[in-house]
Amino acid sequence: MEHLPQQYRHLFPILQTHTMLASCSQSALAEPVSRAIQDYHDSLLYMGTNWKEAIEKTEFARNEFAKLIGAEPDEVAIVPSVSDALVSVASSLTAFGKKHVVYTDMDFPAVPHVWQAHSDYTVSVIPSIHGVMPLEQYETHISDETVLTCVPHVHYRDGYVQDIKAIAEISQRKGSLLFVDAYQSAGHIPIDVKEWGVDMLAAGTRKYLLGIPGVAFLYVRKELADALKPKASAWFGRESGFDGAYAKGARRFQTGTPAFISVYAAAAALSLLNHIGVPHIRDHVKTICADAVQYAAEKGLQLAAAQGGDQPGMVAIRDERASETAALLKKKKVICAPRENVIRLAPHFYNTKEDMRHAIDEIAAKTIHK
Ligand SMILES: Cc1ncc(COP(=O)(O)O)c(C=O)c1O
Repeated sequence: MEHLPQQYRHLFPILQTHTMLASCSQSALAEPVSRAIQDYHDSLLYMGTNWKEAIEKTEFARNEFAKLIGAEPDEVAIVPSVSDALVSVASSLTAFGKKHVVYTDMDFPAVPHVWQAHSDYTVSVIPSIHGVMPLEQYETHISDETVLTCVPHVHYRDGYVQDIKAIAEISQRKGSLLFVDAYQSAGHIPIDVKEWGVDMLAAGTRKYLLGIPGVAFLYVRKELADALKPKASAWFGRESGFDGAYAKGARRFQTGTPAFISVYAAAAALSLLNHIGVPHIRDHVKTICADAVQYAAEKGLQLAAAQGGDQPGMVAIRDERASETAALLKKKKVICAPRENVIRLAPHFYNTKEDMRHAIDEIAAKTIHK
């Protein structure tokens, strides 16, 4: 699998000077993505207007994301962020008459934030057990009163991967809708919303999707989308911009003009990812993470990942001073992602085994000389 970095590293100028291992936060910028950003900028600078091209680019990005997750383009809405995606979803559930929502203690804080603001819903948090989430937890906490179950595909802190197909089966059997936060998986772990039976799924573009902030995607299963009337919806969610009828499918979850510059970036980035193929990326990332786990253990570092689930696509190392360590590493041109008391080394297809070992050497040296 070492052929992936060999083939693609030249597309990422920063890799000539830096070790980039922060894909769980912001991945490296590829030249085609940089050119796309420049194209949008230049179209305003030299042509004055570019509405038609920007709308076409938006449809292209929608298609590419749909391809990435096994959906139809009409099942994908373009929204500003994953948080906004969930706000739109939350605004659409009144028709069900049920008022119980569950999410997990592995969800990114944006998920609880959205539900804390909805005091008309009863909310339960599904607790993980020693860092893993047994399926029995879903059997226990989802009831026939549950309207929506929110789960992360991958835990943002240590990379723990959940079995979404199994969770979807439980959720469906109990009559709950399922919302999957795939921000930490889309772009390096294959997703198949149809095969898994997912109702809704969201992912933003600045992490493993190789883009920049400003745009995210919300998948809503077609039959479900057509039955929902989100309150967080405006002219980009209408059949025609000036007509009051909801658009068909997931588009009705859209509000206003998308951040076109981010859409241009996303279109180029998704096209690159689909060209490479996420299953190949997954194989490569798994291989270099397996090596890194062993190497980190040899160096005496303590790993944060729990035992269980599919193999994580990141290596999370315990460090009570994670932010300080990340700042030190940054001075040495090693970019990783601290979060609470862990340092996350989150590689992508452009990284090598040596990148991971180099970062681990730097972390171990810092720990020893502290
Ligand atoms: C799993 C996960 N979900 C959601 C978010 C927040 O995304 P956004 O800022 O697009 O709302 C993050 C950001 O780090 C995340 O890791």
